[in-house]
Amino acid sequence: MCGIVGYIGDKKAVEFLLEGLTKLEYRGYDSAGIAVNCGVNIFVEKAVGRLDALKEKLKNREPEGTVGIGHTRWATHGRPSDLNAHPHTDCTGKFVVVHNGIIENYMSLKEDLISRGHKFISETDTEVVPHLLEEVYKGDFIGAVREVLNKIEGSYSLVFMSKDNPETLICAKQDNPLVVGLGKGENFIASDIPAIISKTRDTYILNDGEIAIVKKDSVKIINRRGEDVQKKVFRVTWNAEAAEKGGYEHFMLKEIHEQPKAVRDTMSERVLKDGSAIVMEELHWDKNFLDSINKIYIVACGTAYHAGLVGKFYIEKLARKLVEVDLASEYRYRDPIVDEKTLVIVISQSGETSDTLAALKESKRLGAKTLAVTNVVGSSIAREADQVVYTWAGPEIAVASTKAYTTQLILMFMLALYMAQIQKTVSPERTRELIELLKKIPAQISETLSDVDPIKTFARQYGFNEDVFYIGRSLDYDVALEGALKLKEISYIHAEAYASGELKHGTLALIVEGVPVIALATQKSVYEKTLSNIKEVKARDAVVIGIAAAGDTELEKYLDHVIFVPETDELLIPLLTVVPLQLLAYYAAITRGCDVDKPRNLAKSVTVE
Ligand code: M6R
Repeated sequence: MCGIVGYIGDKKAVEFLLEGLTKLEYRGYDSAGIAVNCGVNIFVEKAVGRLDALKEKLKNREPEGTVGIGHTRWATHGRPSDLNAHPHTDCTGKFVVVHNGIIENYMSLKEDLISRGHKFISETDTEVVPHLLEEVYKGDFIGAVREVLNKIEGSYSLVFMSKDNPETLICAKQDNPLVVGLGKGENFIASDIPAIISKTRDTYILNDGEIAIVKKDSVKIINRRGEDVQKKVFRVTWNAEAAEKGGYEHFMLKEIHEQPKAVRDTMSERVLKDGSAIVMEELHWDKNFLDSINKIYIVACGTAYHAGLVGKFYIEKLARKLVEVDLASEYRYRDPIVDEKTLVIVISQSGETSDTLAALKESKRLGAKTLAVTNVVGSSIAREADQVVYTWAGPEIAVASTKAYTTQLILMFMLALYMAQIQKTVSPERTRELIELLKKIPAQISETLSDVDPIKTFARQYGFNEDVFYIGRSLDYDVALEGALKLKEISYIHAEAYASGELKHGTLALIVEGVPVIALATQKSVYEKTLSNIKEVKARDAVVIGIAAAGDTELEKYLDHVIFVPETDELLIPLLTVVPLQLLAYYAAITRGCDVDKPRNLAKSVTVE
């Protein structure tokens, strides 16, 4: 997704701009650009493709100016091209803007501006912004920016630069993240903390409706009415190394291996020392609260949605509350039946996913109580929800979500058990037993991660197949969906997951000799039925790779390959079975020479619809 950086100080701006944009590359982008105020003019350079293309264009002609802005674009309005890349300028070249988000009313604004003689050169929605600034500017930069903000509708983080106001950068936030980094004699602007963490840890995280007036020695925050806003400095505590690869070839592999620590962190402080109960300090729910809820929605996108499916299973099984799970992109437009007796739980790693945020806002509008499960402190979703529980997975850089998923699963499990404690739907003995097993999960993930050779072999053997099917029942089906998503997004192999019981209703027609089928068979309650589904595909000469719990002696009788994960309760086993599926996707992508951390057409944080 788009990334923004800005610099104002005494150093050559271009140096920070390129460094900051490099740190944001993980967000995904298709073009990049910078603008630097050089006094006589504003220097602008942009290039479609990777940052290297921009650096090549800047070779031997880097601008000397000390005020600048930069951007990496992920195309929404208009294809990836030099012209559509940001920054965008007005007719005179005196105003320059970078933007993340969407200006929803840009068409009518553009028509109006064209009728007033403005010349547009791009297909973007953003370009209306500098032209509007040109239109309303009468010598008061801040006043003009506020006037522009009053004219535009939609979501944005915006940074404004003016040739005639070289001492000031102005930025504004609405539904898109924006942070100001506080330096000494210099200040920084970025859409994400990794861009500035090597420069400063002291930041202002802007809220919706806030405008920052950034000079080299000061930062002033105002609201849209022009009133001063007093903000606390937010000190970033995670270090720069945490956002780097730490010796692994890819962020994805690093993050897969971080899962034992990540799930341990998620659990920490939430399990009572004597192992008798789950504590959710953030929530303080009681029986009255839960009795007032007659329906729970879990709403999310992609991998987080898959975590939601498992979450539904946990809550229904343990807390005996009715749960519906919905894709945020569907939920927000389908007039959901939601009222003040509904609890809406949104799950989002980034806390910035546009559809999830919109679903959350819609739920609040309808009167629901809302809870966010997210990984990013201070994210838009975290701020918007009534209550928030953090997964504490640490920054996830790879586009393919791995440790975010397992930490979401742990959190949903603990939430369900916490609800069950309040509802008294699970006995104290069973609670203790589950907590005991929960505590073993980090070590069991490590164990699963220690035996990757068979997975590498399968990946090499089947990495060039066109189609792969994943099957399972109950929780195994939910994990199968996640396994298939992982494979398709990073290796570009067509992968589909099916509930095993559905095979004979259509999909079995696709199972022919040599087609790889990954069959999960860990759910004891449906084990026999799963086994007969596996036999059905085996009878069609599919190549079946089984995923089973240690101690399963049955599956091996029918299959050539079985990957075993440590034994645990069938509720917790998704935390283990997903690991070989993540690794299989990773090594298949390596086999095929794919760009694992930045898969084509995808972005880490989907902040536009
Ligand atoms: O940040 P979020 O959890 O809200 O993101 C949701 C999806 O965009 C995300 O899980 C996506 O599906 C991942 N690329 C999957 O690996």
